[in-house]
Amino acid sequence: STIYVITPTYSRLVQKAELTRISQTFLHVPQLHWILVEDSPDKTALVSEFLAHSGLTYTHLHVPTPRDRKLQEGDPSWLKPRGAEQRNEGLRWLRDSTRARQGEQGVVYFADDDNTYSTQLFEEMRGTQMVSVWPVGLVGGMRYERPVVEGGLVVRFHTGWRPGRPFPIDMAGFAVSLRLVLANPESRFDGNAPMGFLESSFLQGLVTMEELEPKADMCTKVLVWHTRTEKPKMKREDALQKQGLGSDPGVEV
Ligand code: UGA
Ligand code: MN
Repeated sequence: STIYVITPTYSRLVQKAELTRISQTFLHVPQLHWILVEDSPDKTALVSEFLAHSGLTYTHLHVPTPRDRKLQEGDPSWLKPRGAEQRNEGLRWLRDSTRARQGEQGVVYFADDDNTYSTQLFEEMRGTQMVSVWPVGLVGGMRYERPVVEGGLVVRFHTGWRPGRPFPIDMAGFAVSLRLVLANPESRFDGNAPMGFLESSFLQGLVTMEELEPKADMCTKVLVWHTRTEKPKMKREDALQKQGLGSDPGVEV
């Protein structure tokens, strides 16, 4: 089956580095279709060119996050959910474009552009019937978070923060079958969800905890890490620019 990977992305200094890193992971994965959704009013030249040379099977979409839902410079990163509208746009495209191919076997995974993915993760999720789950490393202020499996079933979640959430799982910790996505045309991410409830807003109504399919050796192996990239400092760049000696803007970074 095809794995449809939906990735929200936005323009910033490290964007091309992030996209290079994950796209070169995806190149090692057979039957992967990348749905890259820019958080912008238009498709950017950087991303268009990047995708054209990526060697991947891809769909390039864009949708800007409405102003009132977008984090502003200086806001703490947890204030508003990120990437919700972009993931919904990816879901819209999937629903529109795969309707014609009723019965297609597929899996949908939401991969942020800054995480670190093992190629093994994709083989774990490929057989997803409804919703599969696995541990995520370096997230939630913990070494890892994971579903706890007893007798082959998920019975609770190992998490340090608000364990009472319907699905206390990071975005990187689950995949959904294309069949389930198509059978629930209304399911989407709530861009107004309170902190930590974005994943639950989508999964609620799709599955119950008992129905979750534990992968990665009954959720004992970490195959994805919630890494976050440091924002590069531009102190020297700014200083040189003031003297008219800044870097060549024609060089894409
Ligand atoms: C955590 C989760 O891992 C995310 O999946 C979840 O969307 C996020 O929290 C949340 O609560 O909204 P975190 O590392 O804090 O992740 O979020 P980012 O990696 O900064 O953003 C998630 C995705 O949205 C990334 O692919 C990023 O490129 C994209 N994004 C971010 C946008 O499209 N627009 C933005 O303005 C910011
Ligand atoms: Mn992130």
